Amino acid sequence: MMSDIQAVQARLVDDINAASDLDTLEALRVAALGKAGSITALLKTLGGMSPEERQAQGPRIHALRESVTTAIASRKAALDAAALDVKLAAEAIDMTLPAADTPRGSVHPVSQVMDELAEIFADMGFAVATGPEIEDDWHNFTALNIPETHPARAMHDTFYFPDANADGQKMLLRTHTSPVQIRTMMTQEPPIRIIAPGRVYRSDSDATHTPMFHQVEGLVIDRGIHMGHLKWTLETFLKAYFERDDIVLRLRPSYFPFTEPSAEVDVGYKQEKGRRIVGGNGDDEGHAWMELLGSGMVNRRVIANCGLDPDEWQGFAFGVGVDRLAMLKYGMDDLRAFFDGDLRWLSHYGFNALNVPTLSGGISA
Ligand code: DAH
Repeated sequence: MMSDIQAVQARLVDDINAASDLDTLEALRVAALGKAGSITALLKTLGGMSPEERQAQGPRIHALRESVTTAIASRKAALDAAALDVKLAAEAIDMTLPAADTPRGSVHPVSQVMDELAEIFADMGFAVATGPEIEDDWHNFTALNIPETHPARAMHDTFYFPDANADGQKMLLRTHTSPVQIRTMMTQEPPIRIIAPGRVYRSDSDATHTPMFHQVEGLVIDRGIHMGHLKWTLETFLKAYFERDDIVLRLRPSYFPFTEPSAEVDVGYKQEKGRRIVGGNGDDEGHAWMELLGSGMVNRRVIANCGLDPDEWQGFAFGVGVDRLAMLKYGMDDLRAFFDGDLRWLSHYGFNALNVPTLSGGISA
């Protein structure tokens, strides 16, 4: 009996240690310790033994069960650890490998155009300035020579906040980027050359108007600045932006409270396959003029409002819609799609995040 038990134990433990997977191990467990298992059967024989026999065999059989149970547990732990190692090895990511998939994510056309603008104007010595989108009435209107009673205020469809600020100023979402002119002149010594791209807000919505849109403001303040500087700057900018030399501008007299004189700038274009292609003289056969931006010589009163002497400092300013510039260059037709967040639209019109606009590389390469 004693050697029987030892033989059973040796065979079972060998089998357990040789089990190559969890299923085999489980089968061995059931065969030994299950209801009809060999060790269970041995345990049952205890009931038919004499007390002396039972005293002798009991501890042996229990020890057998104990050692088989321990062997199964340690084999199971070993098999579990090996399975985990295999799983980890299969899921390992080598961070040093190049991206296997095509890169996800793209640059929104508006961001791309703002980067292009910054690049083009940096080449002409312009810095990028920013201002708050939540503005006060003074910076957005009054300082720009648009007093309380001015009809231009009604034209701007302004989103006002219900409460005034600590100075009793009405607060609003800026209706244009022109307040950045004021903030720049108040904080920087001339000469000044800046562009200010950013979001602006008006209570207006249809196929060509969204309540939020983008503008870029331009401002130059120096001695002896005149309209010729303005026209050259706009021409140079638009040639670089549209990547063609045949850009022809037409300056039309206009009115803005913050510029005097003011000019609306039109650009010649041609209609091709339902798309406006910028270029050529608007008066030429097959061409027409399209209104593109507002501009002018900074009004003396605006310069004085910022604490500068208008007899010493002159300048020009302009403001243009960035979304409009993007639509014209990249052939998009519905402004609302810009802000829908539709991934299909973005994957069609979006830009590779790694292709940063540079003048040397081609601004939209
Ligand atoms: N702020 C004007 C608007 O949003 C655009 C504009 C016109 C800006 C003439 C200028 C300018 O700087 O000189 O309608």
